Amino acid sequence: MAQNSALDDFKKDTADSTAVDASKKVRVGIIGCGWIAGSHIESYKKQPDVEIVAGCDLIPGKAAAFFEKYGVEGVKTDYADHKAMLADKSLKLDCVSVCTYNRTHAICTIDSLNAGINVLLEKPMCVTLDEAVEIMRAEKKSGKVLSIGFQPRFDPNMQMIKKIVQSGELGQIYYIQTGGGRRRGIPFPYGTTFIEDKTAGLGALGDIGCYSLDCVLNAIGYPKPLTVTGYKSDFFGKNPNYSHYLKVGHPEYAKKFSVDDFAAAFIRLEGGIILDFRIAWAMNLDTSGDSIIIGTKGSLRIPSTECWNGSFDKPLKIYHEVAGEQVCTEIPLISRKFDLFDMKIRSFLDASKNGTASPVPSSQIIYNQAILDGIAKSAEAGKEVEISIPKI
Ligand SMILES: NC(=O)c1ccc[n+]([C@@H]2O[C@H](COP(=O)([O-])OP(=O)(O)OC[C@H]3O[C@@H](n4cnc5c(N)ncnc54)[C@H](O)[C@@H]3O)[C@@H](O)[C@H]2O)c1
Repeated sequence: MAQNSALDDFKKDTADSTAVDASKKVRVGIIGCGWIAGSHIESYKKQPDVEIVAGCDLIPGKAAAFFEKYGVEGVKTDYADHKAMLADKSLKLDCVSVCTYNRTHAICTIDSLNAGINVLLEKPMCVTLDEAVEIMRAEKKSGKVLSIGFQPRFDPNMQMIKKIVQSGELGQIYYIQTGGGRRRGIPFPYGTTFIEDKTAGLGALGDIGCYSLDCVLNAIGYPKPLTVTGYKSDFFGKNPNYSHYLKVGHPEYAKKFSVDDFAAAFIRLEGGIILDFRIAWAMNLDTSGDSIIIGTKGSLRIPSTECWNGSFDKPLKIYHEVAGEQVCTEIPLISRKFDLFDMKIRSFLDASKNGTASPVPSSQIIYNQAILDGIAKSAEAGKEVEISIPKI
């Protein structure tokens, strides 16, 4: 099933290296010192070969308060934005984590790569496909490592999904259903940058939809998306009587809400595969269902997940025939030995130090982004759109 991406051509070969050589410190900076930056800093602090040297945020004083909160001393934070931090050559930065809201992912990543710095970019890759293309062009020009922050990739059960598909156990894959969602789960607290178009650009689609897509697309080898028929809505986010708004006493949240809280799509992938997708921050339903991968020899049922944390609490099930009988094989859950965030950070550091292939490469995630972008465009146009990705 694996299909090599044409966009992967410029990538270096993968070389595994897990031994940590702490003799030379990797100099790390944090761009955007909000909520998720906290998880990055906690993981960087555990790495013996990391020195956190700088951080910046658009909000004055936020970066300094952030490093104080996480107990990291001696960090330079006196920068108005990422450009000012990148311009400070005395920092000699090797790596940055881009932890900004989605709308500034592209500019922060491109500027960092242009400055010759390896980048760990939070998910989603960005907001539009055009931005993703520009990011990849900067990556190619720089020769630096760019990894996108999909931590579920490191979960052994998620990896099992890929192993099952790649083993050929399911035969030829022709239909996939994926997605996820919450009954009432528009991000809080009040003031979050997740719900406004000017900061997030994408709602449930970009926040959790990208994970559901990655779960199945990574398993089947990231075939190219060809067409998308997309739908999105905002019935809950725009409603001042949405139960959570009332509970926290902020009905005005509805006025700020300017992204999707539900999205669905029907996507044609290269290789004759149909992908049926839906995602919700809020809906009148408990779950939008399990993910399923249907093949000519067998099908896989993946229990509905919380998307972002990469875990499910029920076993994977394979429906197939054994000795002419229709059977269902349960795959026992595998316990995780490492924190997913630690693995995300460590794999990025190793690739940056060794100059090896990105653990979560843009050459795959650009297809994820193309689908998000396609859904948004198709929903706005009210018709199917073709996906066209220019040469990088
Ligand atoms: N991997 C995960 O599990 C996970 C979880 C939550 C959020 N995220 C992703 O992380 C990103 C950030 O989310 P968050 O909740 O931390 O947002 P946040 O709003 O709490 O923090 C983002 C910060 O970036 C700053 N910023 C924006 N542009 C900047 C620039 N040019 N220079 C310097 N600072 C800049 C903002 O001022 C803000 O303080 C989002 O893209 C989100 O999708 C990932």
